[in-house]
Amino acid sequence: MCGIVGYVGPRVVTPLLIEGLKRLEYRGYDSAGIAVMNGKGVETRKVAGKISRLETVVKDSPLTGTLGIAHTRWATHGAPNQVNAHPHLDEKHEIAVVHNGIIENASVLRRTLEEHGHVFTSDTDTEVLVHLIEAAFEDSLEDAVIDALRQVEGAYGIAVVSSRDPNKIVAARKGSPLLVGLGDGEYYVASDASAILAHTREVVYMHDGDLAVLDRHGYRIIDLNSTTLTRGVSKIDWDLAQIERGGFAHFMLKEIFEQPQTVSSTIAGRLLLDQATAKLSGTNLTEEELLAIDNVVITACGTSWHSGLIGEHMLEELARIPVEVEYASEFRYRNPIVTERTLCIVISQSGETADTLAAMREAQRRGARTLGIVNVVGSTIAREAAAGIYLHAGPEIGVASTKAFTSQVVALALLTLKLGRLREVSALRGTEIIEALQALPSQIQQILDRHHEIEALAEEFKRAQNFLYLGRGYNFPTALEGALKLKEISYIHAEGYPAAEMKHGPIALIDELMPVVFIAPHDSVFDKVASNVQEVKARNGRVIAITSREEPSLAGKIDYEFRIPETIDMLTPVLAAIPLQLLAYYIAVKRGSNVDQPRNLAKSVTVE
Ligand code: G6P
Repeated sequence: MCGIVGYVGPRVVTPLLIEGLKRLEYRGYDSAGIAVMNGKGVETRKVAGKISRLETVVKDSPLTGTLGIAHTRWATHGAPNQVNAHPHLDEKHEIAVVHNGIIENASVLRRTLEEHGHVFTSDTDTEVLVHLIEAAFEDSLEDAVIDALRQVEGAYGIAVVSSRDPNKIVAARKGSPLLVGLGDGEYYVASDASAILAHTREVVYMHDGDLAVLDRHGYRIIDLNSTTLTRGVSKIDWDLAQIERGGFAHFMLKEIFEQPQTVSSTIAGRLLLDQATAKLSGTNLTEEELLAIDNVVITACGTSWHSGLIGEHMLEELARIPVEVEYASEFRYRNPIVTERTLCIVISQSGETADTLAAMREAQRRGARTLGIVNVVGSTIAREAAAGIYLHAGPEIGVASTKAFTSQVVALALLTLKLGRLREVSALRGTEIIEALQALPSQIQQILDRHHEIEALAEEFKRAQNFLYLGRGYNFPTALEGALKLKEISYIHAEGYPAAEMKHGPIALIDELMPVVFIAPHDSVFDKVASNVQEVKARNGRVIAITSREEPSLAGKIDYEFRIPETIDMLTPVLAAIPLQLLAYYIAVKRGSNVDQPRNLAKSVTVE
């Protein structure tokens, strides 16, 4: 969602903050701003639009100082214009605040503040915070921030500076990630480690309810009672090259091409060949506890929800455990049936999605064991889940998720292998799954090596107005994911459907203008899918088929075919996803979309 970066130390702050914002821009990108302590007071620059505009403004009208905060925004309250861009200031321009999250009681607080003479200039919920801090200010910035935060409800990650207490940054977190970066005689605050990775790898992850007070001499973590807290220092193991584009035109393309390595990293060290099972050290559950699981609830959003649907299929087929997959945003407000014998699997690339986090906490409150399948190390879900499986896919910057999806499916396959072997899966079957997993990286590479074929297909279909994606069994979720990728970045309307269910509605849309992508590898439902292909062709639909071998039953029925290597049924989504990601990517590029920063979307949705 929005991004925050702040710095205090000996260096000139503006270029550091702009650089940090650029690395955060993938999270949100409709406006941006910066506040610097210039020796006399707080000076700000704000723009609507991208960081590059802010950079130009700062070049034309420089800001000098060695302490400052900055923000890139993804609008929740108020239009994405210059006035609503952060930082927000009080009337006297003595206090500046940047904020991620939502203040839920902002309108009530605003009314009271206005009655007391405060004049608001923006439509944002954030501005309430500035006026609350202003009203509470005596002599210490952290005390004023604590006073203000005691009055607000909702979620926040904030950074605050003030000319009335000019040598420090005060940051606070509740429900929106924030960390402190430790340099050599310099300190950072950031919503995401990528903002500061060029300068330090030592970070302190703030917990909900923590405040951090940073100055040139050090940092302190305190709570809302001003009690000093001890928080451990973590080391980030990503390097800068991983968050740079490395010669690719877009992060999304780079991440698609990384999948042979990322899938390999998800598997690495987790296969026990002699026992034909998986070793998942983060699961923290004994064999007895795993056997005692009555049911599984998988909760997630977006692409992660799609991988959850594939996990449901795997776990039911092989581990024979009843599984339900829930949108986290729905789960959290229902009255779900969850007991101490429920395993709640929480899937999230970022580990910070607000609905997913809330769903996990709800499941925990009801006594369920929670297991996070997360990519970002040290993220909130990773920390709060009772057990975890990290994806080890490295930073995913492209807003449309690609490598996280394939790694999630692989992580779910590993979990299924482990649970399955404890129950009904034979050693022979276990070995078959292991061999199929081991083959994936080179099979993905074989597909990537043929990316030009998909690029040519994209040229053919780049003007389509609608797309239908159909699949069955394991590849119904793949159809959903293929459609999501296309709509996210190309803005073409696309729907994913179970291939047979098409007859109950979408078939009405099929004509010679409707491209229909069939995910039709040679699996246990292939013959059924082949019949659905016939139904589309009979109505003159244009059929693109992802197949895995020459299929006589499809002869003359498909217009374009892309063949993927064969694998076991449960892993077909991993291979089928690759051409679908490439198709969405190339169509979007050919239509001139901003692939890495599609309109209205955010990488990490930290508001409800
Ligand atoms: C956003 C992103 C999607 C992602 C979803 C869930 O919508 O744009 O790519 O799938 O959030 O994110 P998570 O980090 O929880 O997997």
